[in-house]
Amino acid sequence: MRLRINRFTSARRNLIFGNTMKSSLVQPHFVVSGENVDLQISGMPGINRQSVDVLIKTIGKDMKIGLRSHMLFLVMDDYHRDSNASHASDPNTPLHIAVRLLKEEYGDEIVIMTDVCLCTGTDHGHCGVLVDNKIENDQSVNELIRIAISHAEAGVDYVAASDMMDGRVKAMREKFEELGFHSTGILSYSVKYASSFYGPFREAAESSPKFGDRRSHQMDFRSGYDEAIMEAKIDQEEGADILMIKPGLPYLDVIRKVSDEVTRPLAVYNVSGEYAMVMNSNPNPDERGKMITEILQSFTRAGADVIVTYHAREAIQKELIE
Ligand code: PBG
Repeated sequence: MRLRINRFTSARRNLIFGNTMKSSLVQPHFVVSGENVDLQISGMPGINRQSVDVLIKTIGKDMKIGLRSHMLFLVMDDYHRDSNASHASDPNTPLHIAVRLLKEEYGDEIVIMTDVCLCTGTDHGHCGVLVDNKIENDQSVNELIRIAISHAEAGVDYVAASDMMDGRVKAMREKFEELGFHSTGILSYSVKYASSFYGPFREAAESSPKFGDRRSHQMDFRSGYDEAIMEAKIDQEEGADILMIKPGLPYLDVIRKVSDEVTRPLAVYNVSGEYAMVMNSNPNPDERGKMITEILQSFTRAGADVIVTYHAREAIQKELIE
């Protein structure tokens, strides 16, 4: 356990202990290869897939308005995909390049989190290694560690493990310690449900499974609080620095219950389907703004310390929150 990880830089302290809505927001981004690429994602108005050059400018503007925490997802070119996402740990993917450039420019003033999962890098779209068409847990963990190390080497603040394999937080922490990455944090998607609210994201990241679904590893939404609490506590004991619940709105009760039981900071992911619901609900931006304020407030009230949301930029820009 390394309690210093969340205190290590001013930007991390501000994110986790800042105690304002503004400081708690994290903006997700989708990074693609190429130059001057800025592609609208259907179903997610206002969120684009961007090449590194465009992304750097976008984040530059975000930093100016005080949006300092960013989560990056790599959208991998098809020809790089294979059975075990081997390209995902290449130090020259657009994601790795972006991390290095951003850290060079903003250093301790920015918090960079990077998604660690196999699904965007595999040709079958599953989050793990398949053996007889089933996800094999421990082989998948080995591949996840390989990817996580490459992100640590690029200089991220937190790797964000979104895969839901058993035992991966412990394995990642141990490997980080062995390699000397004592200040690289782990944000664990601890309580992640097999949800229908990930649709627009999977389109954006082109990460839908080619067959089957994710129910053999993501949680069954019929399960009760005991399992959610157990998942969060196990990750806490394994050394996760931030625990996350996902999706957000349909699971506010779970946020409350888990936050009452754990001591590590708790994050919520207000996912793509929730975002799309709001953006498509009302053509009037002012009315949508009021919904965003109310939704973000509900996460804080339920007990979330950190909020990952596609609304982050608009919320800060339009002063929808304080
Ligand atoms: C990768 C991952 C997913 C999301 C975040 N990381 C998709 C999934 O699990 O299928 C969803 C985020 C969103 O819907 O906004 N495993």
